[in-house]
This record gives sequence, C-alpha cells and structure tokens, in this order.
Amino acid sequence: MASGRIPREFIDDLLTRADVVDVINARVPLKKKGREYGACCPFHNEKTPSFTVSPSKQFYHCFGCGVHGSAITFLMEYEHLDFVEAIESLADSMGVIVPREQGGKAPSPEQRQRSKDLYSLLEDANNYYQLQLKNTPQAVDYLKDRKLSGEVCKRYNIGYSLSGWDHTLKQFANNSPTNTSQNYSERQLIDSGLVIKKDDGKMYDRYRDRIMFPIRNRKGQVIGFGGRVLGDELPKYINSPETTVFHKGRELYGLYEARKNTQKLDRIIVVEGYMDVIALSQFDISYAVATLGTATTQDHIKQLFRAVPEIIFCFDGDRAGREAAWRALENAMPVMQDGKEIRFLFLPDGEDPDTQVRKIGKDAFEANYKNASSLNAYFIENLHERFNITSDEGKARFIEEAAKILQLMPDTLVKDQLISRLAKQTNIEENILRKRQLSSQGNKNNFTSTAPNTGFSRISNREVRQTPVRYAISLLLNEPSLIQTINNIEEIALSKLPGSDLLTTLIEALQENPNIKPVALLERWKNTEFEAPLTQLMKWQPESEDFEILKSEFQGCLKQIRKRADETKIEHLLHLERTIGLSEPQGQALLLLLKNKN
Ligand code: CTP
Ligand code: MN
Repeated sequence: MASGRIPREFIDDLLTRADVVDVINARVPLKKKGREYGACCPFHNEKTPSFTVSPSKQFYHCFGCGVHGSAITFLMEYEHLDFVEAIESLADSMGVIVPREQGGKAPSPEQRQRSKDLYSLLEDANNYYQLQLKNTPQAVDYLKDRKLSGEVCKRYNIGYSLSGWDHTLKQFANNSPTNTSQNYSERQLIDSGLVIKKDDGKMYDRYRDRIMFPIRNRKGQVIGFGGRVLGDELPKYINSPETTVFHKGRELYGLYEARKNTQKLDRIIVVEGYMDVIALSQFDISYAVATLGTATTQDHIKQLFRAVPEIIFCFDGDRAGREAAWRALENAMPVMQDGKEIRFLFLPDGEDPDTQVRKIGKDAFEANYKNASSLNAYFIENLHERFNITSDEGKARFIEEAAKILQLMPDTLVKDQLISRLAKQTNIEENILRKRQLSSQGNKNNFTSTAPNTGFSRISNREVRQTPVRYAISLLLNEPSLIQTINNIEEIALSKLPGSDLLTTLIEALQENPNIKPVALLERWKNTEFEAPLTQLMKWQPESEDFEILKSEFQGCLKQIRKRADETKIEHLLHLERTIGLSEPQGQALLLLLKNKN
C-alpha cells in the first residue's frame, strides 16, 4: 500500500533505466517500424496499427485514440494500476526496491500497519452486516419490496446494521466482553468510520438500523459504507466519513464490481445512487458506477477513461440533474482526450435509473443511449438555453461563456471540432473564438500557436517559423543533448513568448540532470500546466535525425527567440525614454539594440 512519498529522483532514474519497449512488448508484441515500434493499439479496437512506441523518447502514443505516456502510464492504463502500484511493478521487474522518503507526511510503520488493519476491520464488518441481514426479516423484506433479487444483493454484498447504539462496537472492540471476533482498538474503530466518539468520550455506532452498501476500492478491498434507512427518516443515506482509506472525490461505487462482472468493459454509465447501480446490474447492465453523493470530479473521469473509452453520464431530467450535468461537463473538459467519448443522458422527470430500468427493461434503457447528447452537443445546447444569440449582447455573453470553458480544454481534435461547430452555429468567425479563448487564458503558461492544431503533425518548416519556442521544445525532447548548445537562458524568459516558461523550465531541468529522459519530466509535471503542451510536443518528430541539422535548427529557434527578447527590451527602453528618461548606459544599450535590429 502507498506509504511515504517516493523520491522524485527515483522515478526519474527508473524511467531512465527502464525500457518502455520491453515493458510494452512483454504485454503487447511490437514490430519494428523504422526508428519506432508499432502494434495494434491495446486501448481501442483497430485493424491497422496506429500505436507507436519510440525507444529514443521512451514514449508511446496512439494516433488513433490519442493515448500516450511513459512506461509508468502504460502500466497504469494496461494493468489498471494506480501510480504507486505501477512504479512498484516497474521497479519489481527491474529488481529494485522502491525507496520512501522519511519524515514529512510519510506514514510510520505503525501507521502502515494501522491502515492494513483498517481494511481487515472493514472487511470483517462487511461480513458481519451481511450476516445480520440474514437474521433480520424486516430488512430482507425491505429489499424484497424494492424488488432486489437475492442474487444481486449478494453480488453487491448488501448487509444490514442492527438498530441499537453499540452492536458494531461490541462486536469488534477488543475490550468488550461480548466480542466474538477479531480484536480492534478504539482508535481503529473510530478511524474506520464505523464508530463515533462523542465529546464526552462515549462511543456509539455510526450505522444503526440501515441497509449497508459496502464500497470497494479498485483492488476490491472494502474502504467504507453507505447506509440507507428502511423508511423515510432523514438523513436517507449516511456515508463513511473521509478516512485514511476512503476518499469520496476519488472513489466510485460499483467500479470494482463492474470490472469483475463485465467480460469486456468498453463503456461505463455514471448514475447518482447506490440503488441505481444495483438495479441496473440486476437487469444485466453491469457497467454502472455511482459517485458517492458528490459531484463528479476530474479524478473520477480520469480514472474512468483509464478503464474505458466511453462514459455516459445519466442524470434526472429535473433542474438539479441539469446542474449536476453542467458541473460534470466543467470537470470533464480539462481531461478530455481524443478517442474518448462522453455523453449525457437525461431521464424523464421523476425517474431515476432504478425506476426507469424496471419500467422499460434493459434493451429500451440501452437504446436510449442513442439519444444522449455528446459532450460537444450538450455544451452547445446548454449555452443556447442560457443565452439568446439573436441579440448582440446575448451573443457576446454566449461567446464569453464558451471561451471560459474552452480554455479549460487541452488541445485536441475534439476541441477543434467544438470550436468549428460553435463558429458555424453562432456565425462567428473561428478565429475570433480561438483568440477569445486564448485571451481568457490570461498569463497562464499555456501553449498557443497561430498554426492550426492538428494534434499529431510532423513539424513542417512553415510551422517552425511561426512558433520557434514550440519547435525548440520539441527539438530538445527529441535530442536532449542540444542542451549543451545553449548559453543564455534569460533571454528566453525575457522574450515573453507563449511557452517560454516551459522552455526555460525544461532547459533548467536538463541542465540539472543531463541524463534525464524527457518522459521522466512528463511524469514529474503531470497535473501541472506543463503537462498538456509537453505531451503534445512529445509526439512531434523532426524530419531529420542528423545532430548537425537539429543543432542548426535549434539555434535558428533560439535566434528568433532572442530577436523577440530584444524587441521586448527595446519596447521597454523606449517606454522609459518617453516617461522618466534614460540613463547614459540605458541610452547606449538602446542604440546598440536598434543597430542590431537592422
Ligand atoms: N445521497 C447521500 N446522502 C443523502 C442522500 C443521497 O449520500 N442524504 C447520495 C447517495 O449516494 C444516494 C445518491 O446520493 O445513492 C442518490 O440519492 P437519491 O436519488 O435520493 O437516492 P437513491 O439512490 O435513488 O435511493 P433510493 O432509490 O433508495 O431512494
Ligand atoms: Mn432511487
């Protein structure tokens, strides 16, 4: 289990020593294709290979569905591991042990033991609740009333917590005379969320007289519970609090069961409730998951995209459902990738998936997916509902709102399509939309280019002239030893060109560690503003492999950047001259700059 932080240097080093070709080839046989290796993509269905692995960059990428990354990412996606598990697996295959940083937030061995015990406590509790269900006829009747089959209750390990204040406590506390099972300390019972301690020190069960839904993590370990009342009392549901093993924003109810019960998982439907997941499963729609009474987070979507290429969000047709859908959209935009699909399905007012599937059955329920709006279509529909573009003012607000969301999206084909579609519908030139969304990015270090973004273009000379910073970055990624030819990095930052921050940071990282593989930097900068531009540029391939040619192109870029930096300096000095006047050396500097310019 995850414990102390893994040192960054270890990950860098692991990625420098591991060979992504070996890692992938052991799982998906690769064929040599020129400088690279190819195969049919393991992440989507295809007949002609568009999955490529670059040994020099230690990077893989599929031209078909857009997946990409390092050996670590591959293991995460292919074997459904989390980050730490993937590192452990890679390290293991190379016969090295993963070190952990001491101090800071690193858990001590006792803490580690404690979370190990928490899993076993939660598992024991799960068995206990299932047993109580068997012994409590009115709880069984409730489930029968809800038309749940015995089989599906078993599949989801549904249980029941007895009414009374301390059944769970007595069952598991090690100082309890009636304890018949394994011993757990007070601390553990509280840490697990099963037991609550009042200010006066008294302890009592969190779940009393409730139907219990165990929540499992990706490995199938029980990490928490949802508990529903049998009647109409409030609150209807109680969920486990955040604990060291349970994080609502990260977990999805039913994902483990969906994987387990679906032969080939190729889409997932996200619904709102426990009961919805279970009812769908009873009707043989085994690929449903639910968020745990929270909005869908980016983390959720990322996780789902690692498992499947298609997500269907299912919401009630009412106002609350619409609002939840828009929040999901806002969280989906930043993690959208080409080759992945998101759709929004709205149920008739007053229905939820549980009631709907019981009414119309599996086939009709699934047939409705056809009518679900794509992410882009829903985005545009929603804007039209909110703004009336027949007036100039409405149109301006429409564009502002669209731009705000567009700037959240990484550069992808989906985004290009969305911009084109918006342009057509609003009769606004595409360029204006593109510029708007770029300007609303403010001074963030996002990559911008005047060249249309095709996602996986080879570098052509025309594009090179347009964005020297972008080309310089991709040259460095292809040939990190170009770092030796740089002598002044200040002027890059001074140029203030878009992307100059990334270029400067990249150069600094390479200077600090000349042997580092660019792909290790990609891992290091995951979830930062550098991730998207870096990923994009990793896919680029200069036409030549010849070091001398690369070097001269690189210097060409630096020259243009320098020129731009000089222009910035000139502007600055001219501004000073007009306002407070120039000192003698400043005047000379200005003359020199103006002379060099011509
Ligand atoms: N929820 C919650 N706390 C509440 C109410 C709801 O955490 N007090 C979460 C639960 O995860 C629940 C989901 O929101 O499953 C959806 O709520 P709702 O639609 O009210 O419940 P259903 O799942 O439809 O349950 P039921 O059909 O039993 O009413
Ligand atoms: Mn319901």
